[in-house]
Amino acid sequence: MKPTLLQAARFTPRMQDRLNAAFSVHHLPQADRRAGFLADVGDTVDAVLTDGGVGLETQVMDALPNLKVISNHGVGYDGIDANHAASRGILVTHTPGVLNDEVANTAIMLWLATSRKLVAYDRYVRDGRWESEGNPPLTQSPQNRKVGIVGLGRIGQAIADRLPPFNAEIAYHTRTKKDVPYRYYGNLTDMARDCDVLICITPGGESTRHIVNRDVLDALGPNGILVNVARGSVVEQDALISALQDGRLGAAGLDVFADEPHVPAELIAMDNATLQPHIGSATEETRRAMADLACDNLTRFFSEGTVITPVPECAGLVK
Ligand code: NAP
Ligand code: 8YV
Repeated sequence: MKPTLLQAARFTPRMQDRLNAAFSVHHLPQADRRAGFLADVGDTVDAVLTDGGVGLETQVMDALPNLKVISNHGVGYDGIDANHAASRGILVTHTPGVLNDEVANTAIMLWLATSRKLVAYDRYVRDGRWESEGNPPLTQSPQNRKVGIVGLGRIGQAIADRLPPFNAEIAYHTRTKKDVPYRYYGNLTDMARDCDVLICITPGGESTRHIVNRDVLDALGPNGILVNVARGSVVEQDALISALQDGRLGAAGLDVFADEPHVPAELIAMDNATLQPHIGSATEETRRAMADLACDNLTRFFSEGTVITPVPECAGLVK
């Protein structure tokens, strides 16, 4: 008999074919139809597959008494209470590593696009303003800048690896100092004060909630650029909007937002904000690698009783 999988998010046809072949699949219905569905099939569910945006509500997890493994399609698993899962003996897995290059490329792309006004000047051409008004104002060079990376893990390091051609002076902020040749700042506001660019790439969740606040944005200053490819929760969005509106912050390149997919009208109206719909890892190649790892974690669990990439909170449960 195939194990029963509850799918909380939608995936590509290729991945869906893999899942349908290996599992008896249920799709989690919308909230208003959930109670009846969980009462009917909740005790048959062995595994859950979800993604970084959807996560898994603890209430749903707790309606699945025989749940053994949760596979997250994405490295960030702030939408799943992994400590709670571990306390119930449920293994949570994620997809670290396979997306480092793509997300690092996205961060650099957003930084360059923001500092050289790529989107605003694309609009300038399309609106006929080049012809009617002449050349637009000069922009800020990305060369020779002080770049502060907030979170120097797998992806943060891949971002740092891309900075030498820009002759950047690299600094970083994390909770613990790393063995790297970059300047460490235990205090994020101090780093922001010394930097031209801040690139956020920490996990989401309570420990990083609003660590980029008004003080940090003011320290970065009127010529500073903020790039956020971490989670919307890392930046205090209202403080960011007012800093951009008041000119206390120069510009921002944002892949993630506080309440996705809603993006505040104030940000949409701003020429000094470059906005992307959470596409950090969203290429055919990288999403295929993430899908394979997310599926392999599940199939390995049911064939061999182990997984490939558990989250740290659940490492003690791995055989
Ligand atoms: P990782 O290897 O675990 O690195 C996380 C880094 O953040 C570590 O250096 C960690 O150092 C630091 N950190 C954690 N909590 C912190 C805190 N409270 N204050 C300051 N620094 C903190 O993770 P990763 O694989 O690089 O992924 C990082 C995150 O990127 C994911 O969790 C996800 O949220 C985001 N992401 C976004 C996209 C996208 O599409 N935009 C795609 C992939 C990932 P310390 O533990 O020493 O503090
Ligand atoms: C995905 C991400 O957008 O890996 C992450 O943490 O944010 C992204 O790669 C997300 O998980 C959807 O699958």
